[in-house]
Amino acid sequence: MLWVGTSWKMNGLIAFARDYASRLASQPADRWNGVQPFVIPSSTAMAAVHDELGDGSAVMLGAQNAHWEESGAWTGELSVPQVADAGARIVELGHSERREYFGETDRTVNLKVKAVMRHGLRPLVCVGEPEASLQAGTSSDYISRQVEAALDGIPDTTAVLLAYEPIWAIGEAGREPGPDDIAGALSTLATRFGSSVEAILYGGSVNAGNATEILALPGVDGLFVGRSAWNVEGYMEILDAAARCAAGPRM
Ligand code: PGA
Repeated sequence: MLWVGTSWKMNGLIAFARDYASRLASQPADRWNGVQPFVIPSSTAMAAVHDELGDGSAVMLGAQNAHWEESGAWTGELSVPQVADAGARIVELGHSERREYFGETDRTVNLKVKAVMRHGLRPLVCVGEPEASLQAGTSSDYISRQVEAALDGIPDTTAVLLAYEPIWAIGEAGREPGPDDIAGALSTLATRFGSSVEAILYGGSVNAGNATEILALPGVDGLFVGRSAWNVEGYMEILDAAARCAAGPRM
């Protein structure tokens, strides 16, 4: 199974969310055989996306963050029970934008992974190295440490999704990676953690043009997409590419 999802980050009003989700929901059930699509909208749009997708949808809904406590005086936060209540089955954690701008640390990611798993949701743990680490040739060590910290003290991690998202490849300022830039780090993740997690995804400047090549890299079980999937046509093109890969021989 290839996991192919998108986070909308801080984009999208409810009308946009309804239109996007209803377009996905109206596709034939077998269009993306072998692919598990997931959509992670802003929290204000989660219930609308859930509503449009309908119960039992093939497209999973996710949240961009959740707190480690069940409830309480944590102004501005959402708990795992709250995002589950809005329909989320995946919770994205540790994205580099949250680590850089919102004080997310390896320790808080670990607390959140535990909370998400306690409630039977899937954590999508993002890791990625800065440009300096890429240049120094230490990418594999950097991300391995992040994964170890995120999964520390969790005996069974088989529900976990890992996303390798190098900081230098993400967003407007990101640079599209060549296969050689990411193959080593992905193969390290696959060797070290591949057999103990559900899937290892790649994210950072993914588009319909490079999706097939990235999915062909050893150890890659999916894609996590930002900008190229912020319109539903773009997302569906990437899902189509993944479905073609899923139908072909896997390495
Ligand atoms: P991008 O974002 O696809 O726009 O580079 C990826 C991400 O941050 O997950």
